[in-house]
Amino acid sequence: MKRSLKVGFLGGLVLILGLSSCKKGKGDTVQSASGEKRDLVVDLGDTGIKIQPTMYGIFYEDINFAADGGLYAELIKNRSFEFPDPKMGWEEPNSVKYSLNKESGFSKITDYVDPKGGNKRFSHTVVQNNAKYELFNTGFRGIGIKKDASYHLSIKLANATGIKKLKIALVDTVGTVLASSEIIPDTKDWKTYERVLVPTTTEEKAKLKITFEGNGSIDMDILSLFPEDTWKGRKNGLRKDLVELLEGLNPGFLRFPGGCIVEGKTLDRRYQWQNTVGPVMERELLINRWNNEFAHRSAPDYYQTFGLGFFEYFQLAEDLGAQPVPILGCGMACQFNSGELVPLENLGPFVQEALDLIEFANGDVSTPWGKLRAEMGHPDAFNMKYLGIGNEQWGPEYFERYRIFSKIIGEKHPEIILVSTPGPFPDGDMFEYGWEQMRKLNVALADEHYYKPPEWFLENADRYDGYDRNGPKVFAGEYAAHPKGVDDGAMENNWEAALSEAAFMTGLERNADLVHMTSYAPLMAHAEGWQWAPDLIWFNNLDSYGTANYQVQKLYSNNAGTDLLKITEDQKSLIGQNGLYASAVKDVGVGELIVKVVNTESYPQQLTLVANKGNLDGTGTMYTLQSSDLQAVNSFESPEKISPKESTLTVNTGVVEVTAEPYSVNVLKIKIL
Ligand code: AHR
Repeated sequence: MKRSLKVGFLGGLVLILGLSSCKKGKGDTVQSASGEKRDLVVDLGDTGIKIQPTMYGIFYEDINFAADGGLYAELIKNRSFEFPDPKMGWEEPNSVKYSLNKESGFSKITDYVDPKGGNKRFSHTVVQNNAKYELFNTGFRGIGIKKDASYHLSIKLANATGIKKLKIALVDTVGTVLASSEIIPDTKDWKTYERVLVPTTTEEKAKLKITFEGNGSIDMDILSLFPEDTWKGRKNGLRKDLVELLEGLNPGFLRFPGGCIVEGKTLDRRYQWQNTVGPVMERELLINRWNNEFAHRSAPDYYQTFGLGFFEYFQLAEDLGAQPVPILGCGMACQFNSGELVPLENLGPFVQEALDLIEFANGDVSTPWGKLRAEMGHPDAFNMKYLGIGNEQWGPEYFERYRIFSKIIGEKHPEIILVSTPGPFPDGDMFEYGWEQMRKLNVALADEHYYKPPEWFLENADRYDGYDRNGPKVFAGEYAAHPKGVDDGAMENNWEAALSEAAFMTGLERNADLVHMTSYAPLMAHAEGWQWAPDLIWFNNLDSYGTANYQVQKLYSNNAGTDLLKITEDQKSLIGQNGLYASAVKDVGVGELIVKVVNTESYPQQLTLVANKGNLDGTGTMYTLQSSDLQAVNSFESPEKISPKESTLTVNTGVVEVTAEPYSVNVLKIKIL
């Protein structure tokens, strides 16, 4: 809610603002601010409130092709023919069927007699009459390859009879060969053949082409292509540019794997973490719930291979220095879909999944799940501290299930901090009921979600000021400003949305005693494969960029500080008076004052900042994100259009004077003497 403006002088550190106009906000009295100074006072004295290291984190969900086709660096779609349509992603432009039993170049999909885990099928290819037979994989909306980079191809072959050679090539959209190699099968047994392909040209929409030479047949499975240059050079690794963007956010936690994909539209399609660990090729495929959730953004080829599974999520969290925060289903399918319920008396196996996960993450290597973690290459515990039970569930059905999880996990693992949810909305009956129940159940963290227009974010910057301090702490686990009248994917990540989030985030920070975790949502989107926008990071098969919203998150997260300070104007918190929002922290480690000031007005504001109860060094640094165009966005063409500009601050006898540009987010950093 915006507050009325009263301008006055306060001793200490003051920010001078010259206002050219004044807008009336909710509950405001109109005041002409033209030419007035704005004096801000920061109290350097202790508030006793710590900024949690988890304050700014990331929420990763496999939506918008964020895993297969995105962060998971595999370039071949449906690599082992396990999709329900086993030929999805594969093209056979010149297969010939002469008659029922006489065919050439027709890859039949065959079931293993004794299938192992999730790998149930392979292809059987027959070539007759010296027919020209070529098989193509089209990747995820194409295969992105870079000139002179190395790509690791592996393929399993068996039972070659008459097929002498496979020619493997990466080709562009008109069939020009960009890289090639050959394989001569040398045994009838299943054998993995590996080759390295180095393209001569960069191509966003390449295909992998296999030409079969000879007359006869051959069996084929698990055809995989990875860039050599994955994150940390890992096999079965992650896309480096995308992890680097995550690393740039310096996240305090990683919430995964969702979101709605946790619950499943029906219970049998819920995310089962235990099916996502162990040998990669034995992980059982699952339809992604976003495959057909939205008719206008349907993605019939959206499946989860779980090449990026729970082990890899824990590893990623560790790489990023982030607390892992897995979210598990609680015996309820998504209530927006079937809402199927597991009867309370049958909940045991679901609770056991949670206990097993704790063992997988933290258990000794002598335990069954701890042993598996060690076999996968991580004998040390992942030190998981947080665990979410349910995502956006609501009503008594949820809380009677949560209670059971909480009781059993609490008894066996009192060290684990459980996250609960007041449902999908930030207010209303469902939300109020959820909070009432969470208080009764002594829940540690309440995961609130809000997807609202920018105005809502401005008007709710004081959302947490009046929250009960004796109940659960807040985890703002999913939020994003959705600009009205923009319905065009990446264009929804405009500056108006990002600016309003920045203003709102000063309110999160001001309430750091209550708000312990926050994350924007969703995190990533494939430019051609998305279902939900806006998103923090956009990527295609070659490139990626952080949106304006990403830049806001990055600026706040990298300047989170350690201790909350009080910043006021006329002894009031800055919550939208004449469009100004502010929060302040200090970083005890480096002895620095960090002030965040957001000007949501179309005019510059001159600020005089004065510090009470302490002195500031002579110079400092200011980082500014700014655009005078509220529709401006970052893009593949201009990824840094909205990015921080650095300037030097001068402190004169304890006073800092700066201009907050129109529509700007400013972070001021000054050493405390
Ligand atoms: O972030 C997209 C979806 O929004 C999440 O899956 C869900 O939790 C929320 O409704």
